[in-house]
Amino acid sequence: MGRAFVYLILGGGVASGYAALEFVKRGVLHGELCIISDEAVAPYERPALSKGFLLPEAPARLPSFHCCVGSNEERLDPKWYKEHGIELILGTRVKSADVKQKTLVTSAGETISYNILIVATGARALKLEDIGIRVSSAENVCYLRNLDDAEKLVTAMQMSNGGNAVVIGGGYIGMECAASLAINKLNVTMVFPGSHLMARLFTPQIASYYEEYYSSKGVKIIKGTSLTSFKFNSEGKVIAVNLRDGNTLPADMVVVGIGSRPNTSLFEGQLTLEKGGIKVNGHMQSSNISVYAVGDVAAFPVKEYGGVTRRLEHVDCARKAARHAVAAIMNPKKRSDFDYLPFFYSRVFTLSWQFYGNNEGDVVHFGDFLSSAFGAYWIHKGRLVGAFLEGGTKEENEAISKAARLKPAVEDLSELEKQGLGFALSV
Ligand code: FDA
Repeated sequence: MGRAFVYLILGGGVASGYAALEFVKRGVLHGELCIISDEAVAPYERPALSKGFLLPEAPARLPSFHCCVGSNEERLDPKWYKEHGIELILGTRVKSADVKQKTLVTSAGETISYNILIVATGARALKLEDIGIRVSSAENVCYLRNLDDAEKLVTAMQMSNGGNAVVIGGGYIGMECAASLAINKLNVTMVFPGSHLMARLFTPQIASYYEEYYSSKGVKIIKGTSLTSFKFNSEGKVIAVNLRDGNTLPADMVVVGIGSRPNTSLFEGQLTLEKGGIKVNGHMQSSNISVYAVGDVAAFPVKEYGGVTRRLEHVDCARKAARHAVAAIMNPKKRSDFDYLPFFYSRVFTLSWQFYGNNEGDVVHFGDFLSSAFGAYWIHKGRLVGAFLEGGTKEENEAISKAARLKPAVEDLSELEKQGLGFALSV
């Protein structure tokens, strides 16, 4: 017979760390809570891996970015878990789950039982093999999802020593990695099939600002094509990337950022799934009343999108959903539905943008696209529903957040364009 806990968190990422903090704030007793994770370290702020961790000077290293420093809260290092009587089972993969028996089985063969389970298994990076491209385990082809990936990427950068880096993908991982590689003085080429960067969020006008900025930093961007295969040397290292358009790019290293997939496989056939994730209600409770799901793996009703079920792979969502689930678990009489305003941000070079709400409807751009003070609003059914801002101050970002939350009526789009950021500041 293995160990038994009142509360068990499966996964040791962002949501897990914030859930642990909330459990402690709500008075969890010593010995009641356990976190089990296949990563070897206590929960940390994952976004640091593509930002501070890759800097050439004074890079961020653990323990500096353990949860919950990303929200200016306490830093939960391994000692903190010990002091609060929380069992941290690290470097241990869970290989099966049985929600009827309320048990998990680890790769070491231990059965761990729970009263309440929080699934916080996040997502994994989509691999080239998943889209039919053979890679072998070349040491200079990198992904970026966890600490091991980040360490491999840093080693590959050092070995490439100012050579050529090819970044596959034009999403935020591709953009953040390309910027970091350029800061590390590599010759960077980005390749992606779409017509512009960050196609799921950026408008062509917003994207063209970043594309020009990247060019000014020496990053070459090749759009409308994709990787088909690699050229290897006799040691199995990639030396070039073959593209669908017939071109070949020399490569000392490759970074692949082509998307992610939620880690749901343990629960397929046991819990209701939707949008690729574990479907939960407004308390983050799944189709089994003893199982909650939070973070990248959870598909929840987003009030801001009219209650439509969505999965949001954003760090802010993971933090807040985790806290919300713990509040619902520890204080069931005072439950309320998760009322979340979608928020996503990124930082590249010296730029920094924030987005709140929903990018649906007509777009009104504002500000000066020649400088780095511009933004956009999304207007749907006569109301402002989403707002994007590059280079905003704290007050300005708070203003666009408030505007996206309050959804003020907008009658005249050209008037809104004229007022620009002033509109959000006056809401
Ligand atoms: P997370 O992935 O953090 O944790 C999942 C945990 O579960 C991991 O520890 C994993 O190993 C473990 N696990 C999974 N299966 C397991 C099993 N079977 N057994 C044991 N353990 C298991 N977002 C944003 O809004 N702005 C940003 O700038 C960034 N930047 C960014 C950079 C990089 C490099 C990445 C990879 C991601 C971001 N994100 C982001 C996204 C953000 O980090 C993400 O939304 C959160 O980490 C989600 O938190 P979770 O806890 O859900 O998953």
